[in-house]
Amino acid sequence: MTTDNFPKRLLVTGGCGFIGSNFVRYWLGQHPESRVVVYDKLTYAGRRENLADLWDSPNLSLVVADIGDMDALRRACKENQIDLIVNFAAETHVDQSILGPLVFTDTNVRGTHVLLEVARQLGIRLHHISTDEVYGHIRDDHQSVETDELAPRSPYAASKAAADQLVQAYAITYDLPVTITRGANNVGAYQYPEKAVPLFATNAILGEAIPVYGDGLQMRDYAHVHDHCTGIETVLLHGQIGEVYNVGTGREMTNLEMVDIVLDTLGKDHSLVRHVTDRPGHDRRYSMNVDKLKALGWQPKYDPKEAVAEAAKWYAENQAWWEPIRSGEFREYYEKQYAERLAGTPS
Ligand code: NAD
Ligand code: DAU
Repeated sequence: MTTDNFPKRLLVTGGCGFIGSNFVRYWLGQHPESRVVVYDKLTYAGRRENLADLWDSPNLSLVVADIGDMDALRRACKENQIDLIVNFAAETHVDQSILGPLVFTDTNVRGTHVLLEVARQLGIRLHHISTDEVYGHIRDDHQSVETDELAPRSPYAASKAAADQLVQAYAITYDLPVTITRGANNVGAYQYPEKAVPLFATNAILGEAIPVYGDGLQMRDYAHVHDHCTGIETVLLHGQIGEVYNVGTGREMTNLEMVDIVLDTLGKDHSLVRHVTDRPGHDRRYSMNVDKLKALGWQPKYDPKEAVAEAAKWYAENQAWWEPIRSGEFREYYEKQYAERLAGTPS
């Protein structure tokens, strides 16, 4: 990318969430000359305080609105002369998509579609954040490559696959300048504690049981959120328009191995682990080949073990961030999701 088309004014949807807020902090740190408008509905997972240290910056502003609101979106893009949209906004948790799937279609499918329409009307480049879950579960001897067929298996994954394909359809049909990254399972600072690593870390700190679904031998590529941010930056600056790039470490571990790292990092007893009723349709293994992104010069900084340990440490050092979340509306969700599951397990 030349200096002429270097993105100067970014609209980052979902910028108050986990990966979005890490990306905004990273991007402004690397490119202090650019302006970022965070566009976020502030659902339970979106938190202004994730960017508390940055709101005073003249380069950052917040629009609180839904990506499905075309007028608000068009206004935000026009008023701020946006030249790149980075779409993190989504409903993101597989378990929530099993409990209440329709909002996943509203935001992830319709919301992404509205974004594409606005990008088309105003001629703006769009980068879309997709996921390794679109490939479905992967047999033992395979690593997903970007040209593999999509075979999603949960309502969340299906909504993300639909969004991913809509983005590709707009590139083909309207020649819209788009890029897509498909991220592995991220861990790090500011991840809402419904997700496994922050849930297990915060439960361990509180001396509560660690609910491992099924046998715990499912395989995931636990990637540090920093490496996801540098991967997205690489695609924004050096990626080929119209292309899809996998972002992960290319190495997996079992959930039980992940739990061991969390407990060992925090110095907690392994007797906290409980095997509970499995997630319906639980994908057994995700694994992606990341050579295409590496060919652009990108390398992950963390291996998955370091990534999980760093994340666990962050929750030990940042109780002030997660304590108010855990004692609020989160309790209701936790009861619904785990009370019955944990009731029958021996302590
Ligand atoms: P998150 O749940 O922490 O944050 C989602 C953000 O989107 C929140 O700030 C929320 O308020 C906002 N949002 C939700 N619905 C919205 C709407 N209708 N309009 C505007 N804003 C809305 O999610 P995350 O883990 O940071 O994931 C970000 C993106 O990355 C998602 O697209 C997700 O599918 C994708 N992804 C996540 C992971 C992961 O491991 N967390 C891995 C690969 C891809
Ligand atoms: O793989 C990428 C995906 O990673 C992203 O696309 C999603 O947005 C992100 O949320 C994450 O997917 P999940 O929603 O499945 O992540 P979660 O942390 O819930 O689960 C990770 C693994 O841990 C999975 O195999 C299920 C298991 N697990 C999870 C929870 C919450 C448990 O064993 N027990 C639990 O209580």
